[in-house]
Amino acid sequence: MKKLTKGKRIGILTAGGDCPGLNAAIRGVGKTAIVEHGMTVFGFNAGFSGLINSDYFELKESQLSGILTLGGTILGTSREKPYKLVAEDGQENHKPEKIIETYDKLKLDAVVCIGGNGTMKTANLLSQEGINIVGIPKTIDNDVWGTDVTFGFDSAVQIATEAIDRLHTTANSHQRVMIIEIMGHTAGWLALYSGIAGGGDIILLPELKFNMRSVYKNIQKRYENMKPYSIIVVAEGIPRPKNKSAGSYIAKLINDNTGIETRETVLGYVQRGGSPTPMDRILATRYGSFATECIAEGCYGNMVAIKRNDLTTVPLAEVGGKLRLVEPDLGLIKKARNMGVSFGD
Ligand code: F6P
Repeated sequence: MKKLTKGKRIGILTAGGDCPGLNAAIRGVGKTAIVEHGMTVFGFNAGFSGLINSDYFELKESQLSGILTLGGTILGTSREKPYKLVAEDGQENHKPEKIIETYDKLKLDAVVCIGGNGTMKTANLLSQEGINIVGIPKTIDNDVWGTDVTFGFDSAVQIATEAIDRLHTTANSHQRVMIIEIMGHTAGWLALYSGIAGGGDIILLPELKFNMRSVYKNIQKRYENMKPYSIIVVAEGIPRPKNKSAGSYIAKLINDNTGIETRETVLGYVQRGGSPTPMDRILATRYGSFATECIAEGCYGNMVAIKRNDLTTVPLAEVGGKLRLVEPDLGLIKKARNMGVSFGD
């Protein structure tokens, strides 16, 4: 078995927004490839730009040591979308051809694309061009279709929860309404999980319709019930007027309509930074090592995934272009409602 796979040449790239655990995944792919299968591994710099511009380096085993706990990505990342119809200079788009050129020039057997939804969409298109691809899902947003969980999410939940915990004490001292805006441009998973873990009183998500009158009423009722402060967790992707951030929009409305002093905190990029949690290190390691096993077995055109805590694969053709959103009738939402958490409806 080992003899069959010896000598395979593979590339790895990280694309889209970064998140904790990228280096753990690179290490999982690379170490399994080199140690177990004797493969040669190339790292492409800055996402798909590295493939387009033939910007790569050989990743040796020594470079994969000491990176498990490191935030960010040793390969760098970008939001380059090689299949965008018109290139920035208005000329015809030759990027996909350049990618195939690099792939052929390096005599690659496969490329591992670590990314979110956008990356899986591109990975699927490249796969249709005949490039052997294995996708690995990552994002703090946890919204990749086809898997139960992406790495990066657990670390971001921890960071956001700690921030909410800290807001409780200052909100209580000043008897204020505290709004915290959590990342998630389309999906509310991070706001939902950190909101519940941090004991948020009201959680507003893009997937659940809310009514501001019900939000005001809820805050006022809390005051009448001797709970003179409120924590409101808002996902950045909630419907709002153009050019307004979710947090400041909701804060102004509450301040103006309840007369209660309201402050907002936008957590921003700290949610994507720093060292991954142990759970994310394990998840990224499992994904990375399994992706290499897929390559060793010649199983391409798939994204590795977790279903009910088991590793599996999902065809990229099924994943591309879809999103995994919070379902309004999710069990966790029902449980939270039963305990008095409001979703603004
Ligand atoms: O990684 C996902 C995400 O964090 C979204 O929640 C957020 O809207 C987006 O990235 C912003 O990232 P950037 O500014 O890097 O495009």
